[in-house]
Amino acid sequence: MSLYKAIKRPFGLTYYYVKDEVLPVWRQALLRADARREVNRSSRHRLTGVTLAELIGVRTFSGELIMDQMCMPPHAFQDATMNDHDDIRPLLAIAQAMQPRTIVELGTAHGSTVANLCKFCPEAHVWTVNAPAEDMTGSITTFELTKQSIGWVYREHGYAPRVTQIFENTLELEMGAHLGDARIDLGIIDACHDTEFVMNDFAKLRPWMSERGVIVFHDTHPSMRKHLFGSYRACVRLREQGYDIRHLRETWWGVWTKNWDALPLAR
Ligand SMILES: C[S@@+](CC[C@H](N)C(=O)[O-])C[C@H]1O[C@@H](n2cnc3c(N)ncnc32)[C@H](O)[C@@H]1O
Repeated sequence: MSLYKAIKRPFGLTYYYVKDEVLPVWRQALLRADARREVNRSSRHRLTGVTLAELIGVRTFSGELIMDQMCMPPHAFQDATMNDHDDIRPLLAIAQAMQPRTIVELGTAHGSTVANLCKFCPEAHVWTVNAPAEDMTGSITTFELTKQSIGWVYREHGYAPRVTQIFENTLELEMGAHLGDARIDLGIIDACHDTEFVMNDFAKLRPWMSERGVIVFHDTHPSMRKHLFGSYRACVRLREQGYDIRHLRETWWGVWTKNWDALPLAR
């Protein structure tokens, strides 16, 4: 190796380490601090809590999960920091109690949640939206996937006939163009977790909700730690606008329904 290369190499490695590893962490820490300041100023709009029992009565989820590429706690891959609680079973408990006919999920990823929803809601049709990597924008986006890898789990388990896959950035989404006469019973917001995207996603689903409809927001927690600040701040802003979004206790879910007086949610 020439002397020039021997000197240049450590500078190159340091440059890419700072650009790809250090700066994104700092940037997210600054965004998180900003979100915390905003939420603290608006403390009366912090999400009130609701328990699963209050939401759906005594019923809990029962059944054997499809765990392929599970992308919410408990993740298919071992991650001690993320797997300290369970988000998929409460979601499926809500779905089992409601038995929705129309489900819309924003953020398909590999399709494990869609596969489970199809398995445990036999009457449901699922519309699920994920931008291919080349159409992605935003920062807290989790995966950049090809069209082939988006949704492979539900296809592998034979559920493709009950699923409409939409390859779009949710910023561009016109839900009415896809739904026809259907109205959404269960909406799941789990795409880009930047505050503005979550607010956009709520605005895209809300006009199409059925009377008994419920929207859940993933990665929403009052601690606002790690990546949990963007969606929580969106929910606080939406509460300021009059939407009564609550936090499902012991989970990373926010929940909104038009009529909180009509609990428990059921068929
Ligand atoms: C957290 S993952 C979804 C996990 C999935 N709901 C599940 O439970 O298996 C978020 C997904 O949203 C997609 N995504 C991020 N930003 C998006 C956007 N603006 N529009 C559409 N999809 C987006 C990412 O590609 C990623 O696959």
